[in-house]
Amino acid sequence: MDTGRSSSNHNESDVTMSETQRPHWGSKMGFILAAAGSAIGLGNIWRFPYITQQNGGGIFVIVYLLAVLFIGLPVMLGEITIGRHTQRNPVGAYGRIAPGWRFVGALGIISGLGILSYYSVVAGWTIGYAVKSIGGSLDPNGFGAFLGDWRQQIGYLAAFSLLTSFVVASGVQAGIERMARVLMPLLFLLMLGLIIRGLTLPTAGAGLKFYLMPDVDKLTTKTFLFAVGQAFFSLSLGMGAMLTYGAYLKKEDNLVTCAVAVVALDTLIALMAGFLIFPVIGHGLHKGGPSLVFVTMIAQFSHMTGGTVTAILFFVLLALAALTSTVSLMEVFISYLIDEWHMRRLSAVVLTGTLSFALGVPSALSLGAVPSLTHIIHGKGFLDIFDFAFGNLALTLGGLLMCIVLIYRWGFRHAADEVLGSSPKFRPFAQTWKILLQYVAPVAIAGLLIYCLVTGTGLS
Ligand code: TRP
Repeated sequence: MDTGRSSSNHNESDVTMSETQRPHWGSKMGFILAAAGSAIGLGNIWRFPYITQQNGGGIFVIVYLLAVLFIGLPVMLGEITIGRHTQRNPVGAYGRIAPGWRFVGALGIISGLGILSYYSVVAGWTIGYAVKSIGGSLDPNGFGAFLGDWRQQIGYLAAFSLLTSFVVASGVQAGIERMARVLMPLLFLLMLGLIIRGLTLPTAGAGLKFYLMPDVDKLTTKTFLFAVGQAFFSLSLGMGAMLTYGAYLKKEDNLVTCAVAVVALDTLIALMAGFLIFPVIGHGLHKGGPSLVFVTMIAQFSHMTGGTVTAILFFVLLALAALTSTVSLMEVFISYLIDEWHMRRLSAVVLTGTLSFALGVPSALSLGAVPSLTHIIHGKGFLDIFDFAFGNLALTLGGLLMCIVLIYRWGFRHAADEVLGSSPKFRPFAQTWKILLQYVAPVAIAGLLIYCLVTGTGLS
């Protein structure tokens, strides 16, 4: 059955050795929390609300839910299934199910490193702002100066990279899983508290209307593409992050409940983020982008009772959400170095942490500190270009290739067997899953890819 093994480059003793030593999640719940931690991040709390508002409010929410259900969920199950079956990092995994397609995994781990580098820059801002709110020095007009201050940019990037490295260095169970078990419930409670605080503000009514009022005129093909792009990024799909986490699942864990739970939690938190942000800003949203959280929200906190405490909790919330995401981005490369190069976890972390920090430096300096990095192509700075290349193009291409490899190279039967082995009740849905992976997802993703390439704009 295991067709990949005979054709893999590893000799038998390598395989046996790494298989017995391979770490696993302590429980299925550990996986769900860690994978939800990967999915839930800045994409949910910062990007989802303003993308929704810019794309027609309530109507976008409906399109987004459809994209999540018909594209996100089947691709998520596909990635987790490949991971669990092969018990490998993305490069090794693709090598096993489809010899000659290792490059799909390679594309994944490279884009993971690329995303990690600039995501850590933005994540660094959240610690920066948490520190500022604790020090009582939050200033809505200070964002530009903050971005242009190379010391703070590099300092917070370094701090966040160290934090991520520390968690990943502690291992799958003792590091990633333990962090997720503590941070995810905390994140949920913090969010609930902040939502309740926001709903009691006088701006709440106007904000909610702004968020949810359907604007049907805005419903175009673009709305649909934005929804697919947002779903991909938000669910951490397309570069093997879910594959890597799935590779730490045991044979008896039910893959369908895992995929459904992670998708449901991520979507719940995205929707909740809208209920957190909009009541606070009311009519105050003029433009989205980085300024939504780092300017508009702060302006509101500054004239609200208990604003300082709320601001502290809000930035701590963002930092925690970002940390569980950077950890997953780093773990993909780590699992590659451990599986394929037989590196020790600690050495792999030192190497990856250094690499991602070094790659992040130009992004950190591209927002004002170094003028030549702020406008590279078409007025886009280094960070924007990385986001476009890795966060948009590479992810969608990776997702498309995953569908193709799963259906046409590995064979849907093998994937279905892997799922059915631990979730026999899935049988009546298997055919639907196949149709979604073979036709619906590839067509939607290819449309998105073409749109990104032709217009040069990112959608994730
Ligand atoms: N999903 C995370 C967010 O919404 C970001 C993220 C973590 C990610 N790991 C990923 C995105 C892998 C794409 C691929 O913020």
